[in-house]
Formats: sequence, structure tokens, C-alpha cells
Amino acid sequence: MVALDARLQSLKTGQPQQDALVELFTALAAKAHDVSRIISAGGELGNTIGDQNADGDAQKALDVMADDEFLEAAKVSGVVAAYCSEEQDSAVIIDESAPLIVAIDPLDGSSNIDVNVSIGTIISVLPNPGGDLQQSAMQTGDQQLAAAFFVYGPQTTLYLTTGNGTDLYRMDPVSGVFLLIEEGIEIPEDTSEYAINASNARQWFTPVQRYISDLLLGDEGPRERNFNMRWIGSLVADAGRIFNRGGVFLYPGDRRPKYENGRLRLIYEANPVAFLVEQAGGAATDGTTRILEKSPTEIHERTALVFGSKTEVRWVGSYEAETRQGLDQSPLFSHRNLFRS
Ligand code: AHG
Ligand code: MN
Ligand code: MN
Repeated sequence: MVALDARLQSLKTGQPQQDALVELFTALAAKAHDVSRIISAGGELGNTIGDQNADGDAQKALDVMADDEFLEAAKVSGVVAAYCSEEQDSAVIIDESAPLIVAIDPLDGSSNIDVNVSIGTIISVLPNPGGDLQQSAMQTGDQQLAAAFFVYGPQTTLYLTTGNGTDLYRMDPVSGVFLLIEEGIEIPEDTSEYAINASNARQWFTPVQRYISDLLLGDEGPRERNFNMRWIGSLVADAGRIFNRGGVFLYPGDRRPKYENGRLRLIYEANPVAFLVEQAGGAATDGTTRILEKSPTEIHERTALVFGSKTEVRWVGSYEAETRQGLDQSPLFSHRNLFRS
């Protein structure tokens, strides 16, 4: 099996920003090994430390520990100009002359830390655009040079793309070496499995309520087949399942205060996942617009996120379009659904 380092070396093109990915992911993978051992050892990792991050989430010990570790990796790599993290209010400027910008969710799935459920780290890599580095991550997702996420679970795995397909690596727990186990993952175009936090159903806007209601009607409804649901509550774990067997993930906007654009953040959660998913033949939108075309204006801005099997992402888009065109009010669409009498 090919090790990550050998694979990265083979991707070298002589283009400085592309070649800097080797140093960056070598440093990140070494840190992921350390973080996976910290998690496996357990302890008071899920305790809140009394602070909040910029998005208002209570910070847990492992959130901050992981952020410290990956910031150190960014510095050690020697190729990062600015580090933009969920756990930092603003960008940490490292070396203005370095070629890369890192946007990172150091610990994704924090609500699962205490219950031994898979959690992860999500990374987006952008070119250093020069100018004010506090604005350097304000680039569309299409500008990404690479995207990756680690999953710390029964196995520690790495999903990585540098723009030539999405590959899956598994970490050898003793040596910490990441070995290539699947090259060029392909997400099945069709699926009968969806992932959404159903406890928010009454808060969803009409298109998602109608879409999910029709899935729940199964073979007695307009989709004429039954669906299954999975929701782990760690984006990286739900995404890993979708890479493995297909599926559609939805974290839509809803009526709760601060949730009009959902819960997930554009530059260090949605963009990297969208790049990885598209490179594996899937699709990623905010329900209507392709994620990788959205222009961020703020490091921690949120976006609705729908991704996975291409056909189902398109179905969600069709419900959004019907509502936009007022078609969901016509008698043709007035079938009762589970959310409206
Ligand atoms: P984070 O722990 O980095 O804040 O991310 C958690 C995210 C994501 O991993 C998951 O899909 C989602 O939050 C779960 O949200 P709910 O708890 O609202 O279901
Ligand atoms: Mn997260
Ligand atoms: Mn996080």
C-alpha cells in the first residue's frame, strides 16, 4: 500500500503552492496521529472550559487542545501564511510570504466527545492571495488547492483531495503512517438514505419540510420507494458514510434565531466537504446554489448545506425551485404532509 508521503511526493508538479501541500499534509498527518492518541486515551476532553468561540459555541477542552496542535502543525510546516480556525476569532498570521492559507475546524462533532462517537478535523487549503491576510480566506471554494478531513473513530482515516479525485487513507495506529486504501472514491449517484437532525422539523422552511415529508411517505408517496435515515451528529462521520455507500446530508437553514443559514460554517466545514464530495462525483449546494461558488464575507459565516448523492441533491433543489416559483401552493401540490394539516 502507498503511504501518504509517497503519494504527496508523486503529486509534486514544481508549482510552489501545489508542492507546499506535501509539507503541510505531512505536518497535519503527524498531528492527527497525536490527536487520535489523545482521544483514545480519554479523560476530561469534553469538559467545557468556560469560554465561547466566535460563533457562540461553548469551547470544550479538546476543541482548544486540537486547535493548539494544528496551529503548531501549520507553523512547523513552514508553508502557511494565515491560519483561520473555528476556535479563533480572527486569522492567526504566521508568515506573510508563505504560499498557503489554512481554514480549519480543529475538532468537528464536539457534542460527541464524551460519548466515544467518531469526531474529526476538517481542513481547507487556499492560495495566499497577498494583501490583508485577515481577508485571505475570503475566497470562493473553487479556489481551494486541497481539502481534507480526519475521522477519529474505530479507525483513524483521512479523506483528501488535491483536485485529482478524492482518496481515502487509514492510519496505522502504531506507526501513525496513513496508508492509501481507496483511490478515486465514487459516491453512488442514487441513494435511499438521508441524514438530517429531525428534531428541527417544525423549524424547517417549506421546501425541506415537503422534501422530507415525501421521503417519509416512502412507497406510499410520490417517491414510490422507502428511505432510511442516519444522523450521527458529527459532520465528518456522516460524510464518511456517504463516501462509503452514498446518501444525502442536509443541514438546512431554519426558523430558529441565528439558524436562518443553518449551523455549519462555509469556509472550514462546507467548502472542504463540498470540494471532496464533488471530486468524488457527488454534489454540494446550500439547497439552491453550488457551495463552491459562494463568496464568503466573514470567517465564521454559516451556510445551509446539502451534499452527497447527486440525484438526491438535485431533488432537494427541485423542491426549493417549486417554492420559489409558488408552485407548492397550487392544488397539485396541496397534498397533506406530515408537517402541515
Ligand atoms: P462542531 O462540533 O465543529 O461545532 O460541528 C458540529 C456540527 C457537525 O459536526 C454536525 O453535523 C452538526 O454540528 C450537528 O448539529 P446538531 O447538534 O444541531 O444536530
Ligand atoms: Mn464542525
Ligand atoms: Mn468544531
